[in-house]
Amino acid sequence: MNSKIFLENGRIKSKGYAMFSKDSKFTPFEFTRHKIGKNDILIAIKYAGICHSDIHTARSEWGKTTYPCVPGHEIAGEVIAVGENVSKFKIGDYAGVGCMVNSCGECEACKKSQEQFCENGKTIYTYNSKDIFHNNENTYGGYSNNIVVSENFAINVPKDAPLEKIAPLLCAGITTYSPLKFSNVKEGSNVAIAGFGGLGVMAVKYAIKMGAKVSIFARNEKKKTKALAMGVSNFYTSTDKDIVKERFDLIISTIPTHYDLLPYMDLLKYGGEMAIVGLPPHDISPSINIINLVYKAGKKIYGSLIGGIKETQEMLDFSIKNNIYPEIEIIKPSEIDKAYENLTNGKANFRYVINMNDI
Ligand SMILES: NC(=O)c1ccc[n+]([C@@H]2O[C@H](COP(=O)([O-])OP(=O)(O)OC[C@H]3O[C@@H](n4cnc5c(N)ncnc54)[C@H](OP(=O)(O)O)[C@@H]3O)[C@@H](O)[C@H]2O)c1
Ligand SMILES: [Zn+2]
Ligand SMILES: [Zn+2]
Repeated sequence: MNSKIFLENGRIKSKGYAMFSKDSKFTPFEFTRHKIGKNDILIAIKYAGICHSDIHTARSEWGKTTYPCVPGHEIAGEVIAVGENVSKFKIGDYAGVGCMVNSCGECEACKKSQEQFCENGKTIYTYNSKDIFHNNENTYGGYSNNIVVSENFAINVPKDAPLEKIAPLLCAGITTYSPLKFSNVKEGSNVAIAGFGGLGVMAVKYAIKMGAKVSIFARNEKKKTKALAMGVSNFYTSTDKDIVKERFDLIISTIPTHYDLLPYMDLLKYGGEMAIVGLPPHDISPSINIINLVYKAGKKIYGSLIGGIKETQEMLDFSIKNNIYPEIEIIKPSEIDKAYENLTNGKANFRYVINMNDI
């Protein structure tokens, strides 16, 4: 244990990269985290993925963010200290942290390990969240060198796993795995994925593994060759919707910008489902006309929010067992601004992962 990390009162010294307003650049930021409670673990962060939700939040696109903002909820690292009651981890283990760091633990949703839907409204998100369990302090995410989290919200990662590829599973992985399971995708299902970025590519890989025939709706043809090499049956662009003849059991939309939902609904079979996971900025969020919705009856649209902790562990074990990993490009912390720019200008590939060993 590195004693230089601890202040006299037990709080933990951390350094990360933060934005100080919605249009600032990322700058180095030193702060402290709450002390290690009996059930907490301290993780030295090795890698942090960049999710598009980080961008939406850092730029206040979903409403006003609390600054300084240290994003990052795709976290993989090594346990360097444990509280006295911790049983799931020991020092030296690998651990992952996703979008949540705590919840009430007592309501029906929490008891079913659907902590993201805590009925007491006590889901604490990994960053930009008021931590009611720790004096209402603002939470800071994974663009940093360490994090303290309840062991119940940390995911076990085997010691031989590739940590840089594990990180994006903690959000992109679970967010796409969960609706595929919820919609019971199986051998022979016909699935389409709209938006072929960090989330989209994970959805494609899982759906293929589950036995589905998979099509993509992308913004352009840039990634067509890669998609076909992954086993995708049909690669469409979003403007092709009118000419598509096939009908789908499930469409998952990961689109982070404005789009029209109805043409996608037209492509569902009777009883087909559309899972919305993409979360466009508040001021350009798509809405749906209920008259159109009723006339397209017999089809279901639902929103899907990450996944519970139990399912996140299940997803991680499934990914490792089946060798399903994200497509990543590793960057330095000083390159986060450039990565954000690329992700919003259509110049990115799939997932940027920040090497936090470089901080
Ligand atoms: N519900 C949840 O729990 C949850 C969890 C994580 C993330 N999210 C949200 O999911 C969204 C996607 O996140 P991400 O990290 O996957 O983002 P990303 O890596 O930027 O990928 C988004 C993809 O969508 C494509 N796209 C943009 N507009 C499109 C359109 N009109 N038609 C088809 N494709 C389009 C982009 O194309 P280009 O390559 O051309 O840019 C990009 O490939 C974000 O809004 C994020 O906040 C939600
Ligand atoms: Zn995310
Ligand atoms: Zn709860």
